[in-house]
Amino acid sequence: MNQALFLRDNVSFQDEHPAAGDSRDELLAGLRAEPKTIDPKYFYDALGSRLFARITRLPEYYPTRTEVGILHRHRQQIAAHCGVSCVFIEPGSGNCEKVRLLLDAVRPSLYVPVDISSEFLRAAALQLGGEYPWLAIAAVCADFNASWDFTRRLPLGKRVVFYPGSTIGNLEPADAVRFLARVKEVVGAGGGALIGVDLHKDSACLTAAYNDAQGVTARFNLNVLLRLNRILEADFEPAQFRHRAFYNTDRQRIEMHLVSQCEQSVGCNGSRLRLRQGESIHTENSYKYTVQGFAALAAAAGLALERSWLDDEALFSVHYLRAT
Ligand code: SAH
Ligand code: AVI
Repeated sequence: MNQALFLRDNVSFQDEHPAAGDSRDELLAGLRAEPKTIDPKYFYDALGSRLFARITRLPEYYPTRTEVGILHRHRQQIAAHCGVSCVFIEPGSGNCEKVRLLLDAVRPSLYVPVDISSEFLRAAALQLGGEYPWLAIAAVCADFNASWDFTRRLPLGKRVVFYPGSTIGNLEPADAVRFLARVKEVVGAGGGALIGVDLHKDSACLTAAYNDAQGVTARFNLNVLLRLNRILEADFEPAQFRHRAFYNTDRQRIEMHLVSQCEQSVGCNGSRLRLRQGESIHTENSYKYTVQGFAALAAAAGLALERSWLDDEALFSVHYLRAT
């Protein structure tokens, strides 16, 4: 475990250097597989995190504004479920925008934003700490699918994991169950989880959300190639790829791909990687659930659904789960 350092009186920062380990091997294995894949966590370098923040403000991207509406409207009820002075842990905290909607109601004893995007997390935690001087913040840069060792250092008290944005939808359902089982272990009996989940809806609305007119999602997707160039000393040329996002109705997920526009051979980690014209690199899945489907997923991990809140159009859902 790495040492935490104080960025200001109420904000500490601990870097577990999640990208330093075997990211090279993991990326190469994905690119040599058939079909080629990249884990979506690689989207989030400093530019990727800024592009995602822009996505959340796009007219087509309904999830953020819808979830914000739910959190704001039901913040007192949500706070009642969380209880007094909990330790509030947020994996994939991004710009820490959503927690602001809850802080005055929930009044956590400690807020723990966890994110893989180091520089972005640092800036977001500092900004939040300046705006909320009463709030103790212990930011941790870590991979939420790897070790949660940092939780061993947290103070006593009820723990609640806040996981908004339907980031859970970026995991394969089996991995989502594993993630939730980890959450259960970390919060312990009586602890809770507040999770935002995107819901099934007509595919036109879904497809538009991942194919915005301004092309921000396309930039977000293509930016991962520049990340590959840095990590793998590769020479992917973004102009030779096209963003593709569609709703896979059978699997109930949005899929994002980067499609090679020509037959090409890309220098990569000291050798060559061949791509056929039209061949795709699968960069992300975003699973959509029903309330019942998500409750079953949570139950499989030992978390009981205590309460769900939906917007009036049932586009998005927020759930309070209790560790049994
Ligand atoms: N919670 C915010 C941001 C969601 S975007 C919201 O609801 O708007 C997903 C966030 O998860 C990004 O900030 C990204 O950097 C982070 N993330 C993605 N994969 C991660 C991983 N494996 N470990 C830790 N953080 C991750
Ligand atoms: C972070 N995650 C939940 C977003 C999503 O909707 O799956 C990432 C994203 N990808 C394209 N647009 C947004």
